[in-house]
Amino acid sequence: MKRITQICSLLVLLLSFVEGSKIPRASNDTTINDWILDFVERHMDKDANPCEEFYRYATGKFNGLDDQDDIYSIPDIVILNFNNRMRTILDQLKDKDFTEANSVEEKVWRYYKTCLMASEATRSPKHYLELVSPDANLTWPQFAHEKDKWRQEDFNWLRTLAHLRRYGMENFIIRMNVQPDAKDTNKFVVNLHTPDAEKFQEADNISDLLINIGMDSNQVSSLASKLVRLDTDLFNLAEENKESVSLDEDGFTNEFYTLAELQNRTELQLQKYLKIVFGRSFNGSFKVEVQNIKYLEGLEEILHSYDKDVVVSYLMVKFVNFIMALDGSGPDGDSEKCLDAVRFQMEHANDFLYEDHYLGAKKLEEYTAEVQRIFEAIKQSFKNRIEKNHLNLSSVDVSALKEKLLAMTLTVGILPSKANHRRFVTDFYQGLELDSEPDFAKAQLEVLKLRTLRVLEQLDGAFSKNEGFFLLYDEISNNNPVPWFEVSGNTIVLVYEMLREPVLATEGQHDVFKMSLLGYLLTRKLMENFTPYFLPYDGKGNYGEVLRSFEDYPSYKEALACLNSTQTNNLAKRVIDVVSLGIAYDAYFGEGSQFDRKQPDFTEVPLKQLFLLSIAQWFLGDAKYLDYGAADTDEVRLSQAMRNLPNFGEIFNCPTSALLNSKEMWQVW
Ligand SMILES: *[C@@H]1O[C@H](CO)[C@@H](O)[C@H](O)[C@H]1NC(C)=O
Ligand SMILES: *[C@@H]1O[C@H](CO)[C@@H](O)[C@H](O)[C@H]1NC(C)=O
Ligand SMILES: *[C@@H]1O[C@H](CO)[C@@H](O)[C@H](O)[C@H]1NC(C)=O
Ligand SMILES: *[C@@H]1O[C@H](CO)[C@@H](O)[C@H](O)[C@H]1NC(C)=O
Ligand SMILES: *[C@@H]1O[C@H](CO)[C@@H](O)[C@H](O)[C@H]1NC(C)=O
Ligand SMILES: *[C@@H]1O[C@H](CO)[C@@H](O)[C@H](O)[C@H]1NC(C)=O
Ligand SMILES: *[C@@H]1O[C@H](CO)[C@@H](O)[C@H](O)[C@H]1NC(C)=O
Repeated sequence: MKRITQICSLLVLLLSFVEGSKIPRASNDTTINDWILDFVERHMDKDANPCEEFYRYATGKFNGLDDQDDIYSIPDIVILNFNNRMRTILDQLKDKDFTEANSVEEKVWRYYKTCLMASEATRSPKHYLELVSPDANLTWPQFAHEKDKWRQEDFNWLRTLAHLRRYGMENFIIRMNVQPDAKDTNKFVVNLHTPDAEKFQEADNISDLLINIGMDSNQVSSLASKLVRLDTDLFNLAEENKESVSLDEDGFTNEFYTLAELQNRTELQLQKYLKIVFGRSFNGSFKVEVQNIKYLEGLEEILHSYDKDVVVSYLMVKFVNFIMALDGSGPDGDSEKCLDAVRFQMEHANDFLYEDHYLGAKKLEEYTAEVQRIFEAIKQSFKNRIEKNHLNLSSVDVSALKEKLLAMTLTVGILPSKANHRRFVTDFYQGLELDSEPDFAKAQLEVLKLRTLRVLEQLDGAFSKNEGFFLLYDEISNNNPVPWFEVSGNTIVLVYEMLREPVLATEGQHDVFKMSLLGYLLTRKLMENFTPYFLPYDGKGNYGEVLRSFEDYPSYKEALACLNSTQTNNLAKRVIDVVSLGIAYDAYFGEGSQFDRKQPDFTEVPLKQLFLLSIAQWFLGDAKYLDYGAADTDEVRLSQAMRNLPNFGEIFNCPTSALLNSKEMWQVW
């Protein structure tokens, strides 16, 4: 958290220099290659021995936050470049007459402008609460006209939860999402999960917030401690029932219940809840997917054991926390945050503007073709391994693997590739009314409501599959721009942010950088799809009959045990680190490679070394861009990957005794 804040403030400081600094802009062939080379070389510590300490050799001079030149990891540069471009696009809209009524341009511009101009009062927690009520005819207790006149009898926590859900707060008390059906991805289902509970921090912090939103300061401290207790009770309920999730005969943790059955078992009026959220009625025989019914069964008892004014305040505080964590809702509207607010909350419009006002159809086509060429080479490289069948898999399993692999696609951008994008976003934002009065909370709530509505509409088949892969997620991503993998579509999504230097430049960028920067990341995502958890999903993304017990293959177990022979915090990530490097390497240097493998004239560093050094740059700064959660240190991750690359010793002329020139290679596939 601290680190992110520091980066943000440094970025702000640096913004004024950016245009003239080392960040690559022109796709001038010398410039882009020189720039990436410089990026690599200035991080290298040539005093280290690559055969012993590759991580230090490749990244040892990376000074992190201390040195302005080096605060940029590759994704930081990508975001900065992207936001700079969007700022220019949006600034140009300022002088436009929006003659076409309701154009997407006008909506984006209004949201951005509102974010920049709106006063602090319009982005305060109190103001959000004035605009969002707990129920149709009910206010929050602190807004009741007279003390003690808050009408508790009208309050029902599940109805309030439903009202808040309409703004996208999906991961609280009950996590409710609309998702593709795992066994038939042509259909969507309503899924109820246990939320990822995030416990309150300090009671003091809650007291501050309660005072801030207008509560009587004499009452807040006792209320705050009750909120913490309720929060803890719910957290414990979720924790206690984590273990009780049972597998059905298909190895699935989720079960389907009719609403009538579910209401009977849990005492939760879920029909009413869904009616408020979706704005239409649900029949008692409607089936929903439930991950953990024991958790749902325990909810009513806990929530009933607290006074209603405590429960309503609990919902209110969580809603405020949800909103305040979003970009743009902080006290001031700085342009970087406002660009992020547009980028994350109106992401489809944002991408459309980037495409329509900057990239252009021709360039997009060129980038797409280039990305597909890289992806196909990676697929081919993995296919070669599957065919060698090092794991001694059955022929049924080998064909299933190949079918899944060959059907896997790469999707460029989040808009459906075959649709007319202007028409698509115009329809998508139909109904979003942003007025010109600069009230940020009002604008943001409208944006969130529209966005959430579109996510929910997927249940009724709102988006055609014929126009190309398209899926909407509730979660408002604060993630960095890296590709992600979507099992239901058997696809990797590469966001527009990454179609930029230094990751990808259409002109002049040497293939060694394309394959190390983009190629390696795409390989990692591909390999995620081939971990045991995702293997049973077939070429169409449906959970199927085959490859369910991959983990039981003796050869697979043996391979894992080998990789596990030096301590690791996360074996699954080690598998991906190691396997992806080998596959990307073979895709570039292996037989049949169509890529340019001539030694470039801009450097004397041998091509193969350059490839590995460039990949190492992804591991700068916590490898936070590669994936999330517990992992080994970057140093361990990178050296494990390198020590298991058969050619490593030869590439760096390592003596046979060197640490990273091991005779024992561990290969999974
Ligand atoms: C490309 O960059 C080189 C070196 O910075 C410069 O000399 C050359 O003029 C540039 N070419 C173009 C077309 O911008
Ligand atoms: C709110 O009040 C109006 C008018 O008094 C009434 O018609 C409506 O049914 C009430 N709505 C709810 C949800 O109680
Ligand atoms: C909670 O309050 C303390 C003391 O005021 C403050 O230092 C801390 O940053 C707050 N934590 C959060 C998450 O707001
Ligand atoms: C509700 O539960 C009761 C007792 O557990 C049972 O008798 C009844 O059939 C159930 N009704 C439905 C609709 O499942
Ligand atoms: C629910 O829908 C089914 C079929 O769509 C219908 O037969 C049934 O009567 C409905 N039940 C209720 C309670 O409306
Ligand atoms: C491969 O598997 C088959 C049975 O599926 C077994 O008979 C054979 O010994 C295995 N070969 C190796 C090299 O493990
Ligand atoms: C990896 O090794 C650790 C002990 O070092 C062990 O606890 C763990 O179960 C092993 N994992 C696998 C998948 O073999």
